[in-house]
Amino acid sequence: MDTRSEFSSRFGFLMAAAGSAVGLGNIWGFPTQTAENGGGAFVLVYLFLTFVLAYPVLMAELLIGRHGRTHIMGSLNKISHSEASRKASIVISIYALVVVSLILSFYSIVAGWMLTSFLDPVARLMGLDNAATWLTNFSLERNLLAGLSFLILTVWVINRGVKDGIEAWSSRLMPMMIVIIIGLIAYVLTLDGAMEGLRVYLTPDFSRVFDPDLVISALGQTFFSLSLGVGTMMIYGSYVSRKENMIKLGAYVAVLDTSIAVLAGLLIIPAMYVAQHNGVSIYAADGALLSGDTLVFSVLPQLFASLGSAEIPLSLFFFALLSIAALTSSISMLEVPVAYVSENSNFHASRHRASYLLALIVAAMVIVILFNFESLFGLVIAFTTQISQPLIGILFCLYAGWIWHRNSVLEELAQGNPEVANSLFWRVWPNYIRFVCPVLLGLVYWQSLS
Ligand code: PHE
Repeated sequence: MDTRSEFSSRFGFLMAAAGSAVGLGNIWGFPTQTAENGGGAFVLVYLFLTFVLAYPVLMAELLIGRHGRTHIMGSLNKISHSEASRKASIVISIYALVVVSLILSFYSIVAGWMLTSFLDPVARLMGLDNAATWLTNFSLERNLLAGLSFLILTVWVINRGVKDGIEAWSSRLMPMMIVIIIGLIAYVLTLDGAMEGLRVYLTPDFSRVFDPDLVISALGQTFFSLSLGVGTMMIYGSYVSRKENMIKLGAYVAVLDTSIAVLAGLLIIPAMYVAQHNGVSIYAADGALLSGDTLVFSVLPQLFASLGSAEIPLSLFFFALLSIAALTSSISMLEVPVAYVSENSNFHASRHRASYLLALIVAAMVIVILFNFESLFGLVIAFTTQISQPLIGILFCLYAGWIWHRNSVLEELAQGNPEVANSLFWRVWPNYIRFVCPVLLGLVYWQSLS
């Protein structure tokens, strides 16, 4: 593939960027975090932070990327004008490459559970009940096999390139997924117990809105969900044609991603309460969520099981879709180091080579995490999503706000949007990312540490 090829259309980019954004973060991360953090209050803080912090960072990444038209280090370098900022871009890029690889490793593990949930009905359909039991029980062997298989799938798709790989998959998936989720919400709301879930989801407990743990979880979740702070959106921005209006594209991606997260919550939180109504323990006596990481994987199959003969086809189809949604995200993660290695003349590596090599490194991380699951899994997630993604995101903002020359920013924005100099966006955004974003983020960190 020619790495500098562009997305073939606005729709193609939208589907690919949204494909990166929409994934386990929406269907697994957001509902689990909402359930863990008391429902509506989390949703409210999440929406607020998406609007005031994540969207401005998304714009910074997309614009730096389209301007640079290369990998993350190259793009940051291009807007740097001093020795110090050039050196800093090396450090930030390496940090981002490490973080994205760590994300891909825990992501492969969770996506592996999606794959097994998809294979379970297949096995049952074929009468292989023992295999089905093995697939649904949590074990080291199963997790290894599933996680590594998912990683192999990721490499396979990424080697097909931007247009045939990423774009083609994403544009077919998204609309189908939305329709199915809406259908399932309509169904779940008719079941006993669902209304209690809906109430928890939609009524914020305002006393919790400033709870530091809740705020830092919501911050990590929104950066994770929009694929920010690791260079993914920068890379995707680098594939966008100069004819496109970036401000609009960014807004579409943010709105689509957030809507799908909110929809997934609307399905999964009521489904949890339905399960609870039917005797499954969801919360411990002290109110803590039980087995949060795997909750979605037990609640959804139970919901499908209540559908009678529709169970097998529906769970098969649904988990296939979710696996593909996870794939369109994981390829966007692997794309960051692959673009870096294959476009860097020091490495002399083709895209294929780079992708296999990097996948091997990530596979090693998957194995290490799985062998030390109890101690490492949660830690890696907290380190990458709650600490690193927002931090790097803000560094990107500082680059866009302080280091990149303002005229050049305006020129970039004006491509595909000639009237931008008079727009509200141009009046607000540059100072906003200079001052407001870093200060807000500093406040959140300070609050969560104190
Ligand atoms: N946004 C993706 C999701 O919600 C995860 C992701 C994180 C993708 C970072 C790329 C980079 O599942």
